[in-house]
Amino acid sequence: MRPGDSSSIENLFNEVAPRYDLINDVLSFGLHRLWKRQLLFLLRPSSGERWVDLCCGTGDMSLALARIVSPGGQVLGVDYASNPLTLANEKAAKEPLLSISWLKADVLKTGLPSAQFDGAVMAYGLRNLVDPGAGLEEIRRLIKPGSRAGVLDFNPLIEGSFAARFQKFYLRKLVVPLAKQLGLRDHYAYLEESLRLFPGGAEQERLALEVGFIKAVHRPIFAGQMGILLLQN
Ligand SMILES: C[S@@+](CC[C@H](N)C(=O)[O-])C[C@H]1O[C@@H](n2cnc3c(N)ncnc32)[C@H](O)[C@@H]1O
Repeated sequence: MRPGDSSSIENLFNEVAPRYDLINDVLSFGLHRLWKRQLLFLLRPSSGERWVDLCCGTGDMSLALARIVSPGGQVLGVDYASNPLTLANEKAAKEPLLSISWLKADVLKTGLPSAQFDGAVMAYGLRNLVDPGAGLEEIRRLIKPGSRAGVLDFNPLIEGSFAARFQKFYLRKLVVPLAKQLGLRDHYAYLEESLRLFPGGAEQERLALEVGFIKAVHRPIFAGQMGILLLQN
């Protein structure tokens, strides 16, 4: 399976969905919540704003955003896999005061009108797209001029560095064996492949400027294992 192989990736996330949150917590030692909070801290959404969470999965970012932008704000979570969206919807139902809606769509073909959001996030989504540049272009199209967006993902590392060796060790010796125990070996083996093809931080910045963002800064976090791309429209 390769990034952009839409129907296989959609199936993969549909199959993983019931255990996705648990696996994320176990494999990141709960740290993914911290990295997501860090992204929101850097973007500073505020109450009353309208945000979009692209590749929203089971809705963690959408819910966190909705808590920040309420009262008066709104969040739209977009994902093409229906099982994660069902779980996201169930979580949102427990917080009825939040204003969140969900859209089942390919983030590269949402059909949403341009320039309607005050900000956008994409967590662990860009790596899966057939064309990360097109993903960045769509993010820019959806947000208003002068607004901001952020992308959180693994940070692809230069082969041979200590950080890269650690990343490989983490994926091969921890992630894949654990996933195997849960009957999801192939699903998580895909992670390393998607990372191998994912552009590095400098290339992500270049792609973002190429599609028209006025500023793009990639920040490695967690000893360089993860990266946050901050975008200004
Ligand atoms: C690794 S999960 C991340 C979910 C969530 N953002 C998080 O951080 O927990 C990636 C999600 O992206 C979705 N996805 C991948 N490619 C997509 C596309 N082209 N359009 C819409 N959703 C996509 C998958 O269905 C999956 O739910």
